Amino acid sequence: MDMDISEIRTKYLEFFEKRGHAIIPSAPIIPENDPTTLFTGSGMQPLIPYLLGKKHPVGDRLVNSQTCFRALDIDEVGDNRHTTFFEMLGNWSLGDYFKKEQLPWLFEFLTQEIGLDARRLYVTAFIGDEKNGIPRDTESVAMWKELFEKKGIDAKEVILGSGADGYRIGMQNGRIFYYDASKNWWSRAGLPENMPEGEPGGPDSEVFYDFLTPHDKKFGAECHPNCECGRFLEIGNAVFMQYISAQGRSASGGKQTVFNRLPKQNVDFGGGLERIAAAKNDNPDVFATDVFEELIALLEFYSDGKSYDDSRYTKSFRIIADHIRAATFMIADEVKPSNTDRGYVLRRLIRRAAQHAISLGCAQGQEKENELVRCAIIVIEKYKQWYTKLDGEEIYETISREIWQEEKQFAHTLEQGTREFEKMAGGNISDEQAFMLFTTYGFPLEMTLEMAQERGKSVDEMGFRALMEKHKDMSRAGSEQKFKGGLADTSLATTRLHTAHHLLLKALQIVLGTHVKQRGSNITSERLRIDFSHGEKMKPEEIKEVERIVNEKVQEALPVTCSTLPKSEAEKLGAQQEFGAKYPDMVSVYSVGPKDATPENPQFGKAFSIEFCGGPHVENTKELGGTFKILKEEAVASGIRRIKAVLV
Ligand code: ALA
Repeated sequence: MDMDISEIRTKYLEFFEKRGHAIIPSAPIIPENDPTTLFTGSGMQPLIPYLLGKKHPVGDRLVNSQTCFRALDIDEVGDNRHTTFFEMLGNWSLGDYFKKEQLPWLFEFLTQEIGLDARRLYVTAFIGDEKNGIPRDTESVAMWKELFEKKGIDAKEVILGSGADGYRIGMQNGRIFYYDASKNWWSRAGLPENMPEGEPGGPDSEVFYDFLTPHDKKFGAECHPNCECGRFLEIGNAVFMQYISAQGRSASGGKQTVFNRLPKQNVDFGGGLERIAAAKNDNPDVFATDVFEELIALLEFYSDGKSYDDSRYTKSFRIIADHIRAATFMIADEVKPSNTDRGYVLRRLIRRAAQHAISLGCAQGQEKENELVRCAIIVIEKYKQWYTKLDGEEIYETISREIWQEEKQFAHTLEQGTREFEKMAGGNISDEQAFMLFTTYGFPLEMTLEMAQERGKSVDEMGFRALMEKHKDMSRAGSEQKFKGGLADTSLATTRLHTAHHLLLKALQIVLGTHVKQRGSNITSERLRIDFSHGEKMKPEEIKEVERIVNEKVQEALPVTCSTLPKSEAEKLGAQQEFGAKYPDMVSVYSVGPKDATPENPQFGKAFSIEFCGGPHVENTKELGGTFKILKEEAVASGIRRIKAVLV
């Protein structure tokens, strides 16, 4: 039997209340006293002072459902499990109970209260980190074993390591899996070595639900709980928050981050409410849960009978549903659409929803109660009982007005932009024209591309993106954390792919020719993406050869060195530059190889690759582990190709 999200939320709060926890309200998604971040992205953020030892006024055991917003996920929305806004169910021990209470409670909640079949649950734990003196979490594993055994399940443990190890080793009939810090360590900054001084963090243990869908080898040879193929969904994460980072000295006297014990050990549990509902429904699509179902049914009506199940439209339905829900909560937290910071994110949410409403053929009413406003009203009705800030005539008016006005303004600029577009005499749309349509008329690139396609024109998309990069204010406001060089973060997985990206560019130049230049890049912990100049589709044998060269360089275990040089000297060395980028007089350059290169003597003349780059990179290509694989090669604009690749 399905459960709706209100029922799951109530069950969770009551379950922990019965076990001595005080129910606390959700903090706003706009952090109150934290200038370092634009949005609350996890349940623990508003509780940091208490995790560091301050006494909480209502006690040492807390439970809540925290509204969260992750701007970095905006572009991921459209698949079956990413949303920008979500509720995180949280329970905390502030120096009170620890693993031996947390894990049995969590298991009992999921199996007894929610009624999930224990055979469909898989768990992970921290493998340990010798270099930082953090032990393997054998305690959690022993507890999980016992819990599964009580259900008659023989829970075998499997040692994996990184995600790449997971793809290589696979399930091995295991139930409990050890991963390294890239998967089983939690802090706001990610990996232990990325934690700034005074940041709390700790090993964690995650629970995954198995939807029993077949593994998709596109993601890697073998499936494992952290595989991205969609078979497994993470539904909860118990963080054993017991460390704090500090500056110390290494044996050789250099600076080094050390991990001290916090005065008291804490539990920080976070569970995705909709994900638990998806598991309960045994349907991996979080948009099939009750709150979204109503939104989607309404949109199907407005879109003149288009169906969510029609794969041509599914993504647009999801984007509108997610974005309007997020916008509703953001407006309730007093954000107004604007061109900076949070206001810009809100503007982007509403306009993107409006744009997808147009592509679904929604009526685009100029009238006040159009489809987006009606979606917001459903959100209000669904949540107002629990989130009382959504309750009342005034907030109802404010939310409807802000969404409607923004949509109207967008429709107006679109109209003007369209007239401008039609005037662009003949030919194709240049980077500057596309950019002007964006800055002056708020014309999203997707829209320009679509209109150009309808009229048989092309758009200089890469040039447009380069101009966007330069337009600093916009990109700064676009997300709460933005790292240099197209990196989504500086985790180890991302860093490895960044080094692989350098090897790939060079391999492309070897195989296709020296005309290949990088035109854009984007690297996350899961995959790398490179855009490069090349006139035609790559042949299968060219792709194979590029993969072979990159893998060969990984095998050769080449050192990666960083040097700071005058720009002119780096240019003389032929170091690769990013198209459209401006560099200062002194630049940092990363080179790969030769085998005996050292930072003192990088031997540029013999290097395999040299690039202008701010890092970070691994120290040696052998750290890339796994096998480099190209997943996709496609055109993005005329003369520009795009590759997506992974290390598996
Ligand atoms: N803080 C942990 C998380 O966000 C629970 O996953």
